[in-house]
Amino acid sequence: MNANIDALTRSVLEQMGRTPAPRLRQIMQSAVRHLHAFAEEVELTPEEWLAGIAFFTATGQMCSADRQEFILLSDTLGLSSLVNLLHDCGGLEQATESSVLGPFYRETAPRLAAGDSIARIAQGGTAVQYYGRVTDVQGRPLPGAQVQIWQTDADGWYDIQLHDQELVDMRGNFTCDENGWYLARSVLPKSYPLPADGPVRRMLDAQERHGYRPAHIHFLISAEGHKELVTALYLEGDPYLESDTVFGVTSAELVVAPKQDEAAPIRELPAIRYDFRLARGSAESGRVGADVSKINLG
Ligand SMILES: [Fe+2]
Repeated sequence: MNANIDALTRSVLEQMGRTPAPRLRQIMQSAVRHLHAFAEEVELTPEEWLAGIAFFTATGQMCSADRQEFILLSDTLGLSSLVNLLHDCGGLEQATESSVLGPFYRETAPRLAAGDSIARIAQGGTAVQYYGRVTDVQGRPLPGAQVQIWQTDADGWYDIQLHDQELVDMRGNFTCDENGWYLARSVLPKSYPLPADGPVRRMLDAQERHGYRPAHIHFLISAEGHKELVTALYLEGDPYLESDTVFGVTSAELVVAPKQDEAAPIRELPAIRYDFRLARGSAESGRVGADVSKINLG
């Protein structure tokens, strides 16, 4: 019996061994080795195999221009954070820790001036300012660095969950000044549950996981000659900080608290100051995730 299983796995690997592209060959052969080992380890039954097929089919069918269920699946399996960590390990320099991009990133964030608020439509919430410097790993400022910020409103919703694709809120692009400073106004974000209407949520329910993400602010930062940084800041004291459903809080370095700050540019607002360090490298060094509306659903 086992000899037959081994022979089967070997013949699959042998057929795939003819793949001309070396990286594709390596990835697919490794995937097959682990997939076969997994099925063997759990002694996967035909019914379970079919349930798995149905799950992946439903995951695909849930995807649209404003919903990427496969990214949610990757996130909730910890795969997105793992790939991020692997990517960070590749750098020689100690840049700011990265975090997951998530499924709510949009390329269409508006360009705003320093000090503008990203809360242009949303009402209510605790007003706050985000400010700090973007530097290289030696602390030298990066003038003109681009800082994109996006987050939920004070009720825990992203714009695309409330409005159609055209209506953009709670996100903006800022340009650092000649000394590398950025400044944005916003309101504090709120922890939120992953979408409740898809197969990923059904998986979380079956595993008795709460399905929440701690309140966070997403940042995507780029500067010429430097690796793009995708990260997020998490609010201290959030009840889901230790049990983030997508395992995004990979470092205590990313946990922040708003405070009264005499040095902050806007006197009357509590401030979250955060300085970001970018490693040298090409901007096109890859990120885990994408604007999901741009993923070809062909
Ligand atoms: Fe998020």
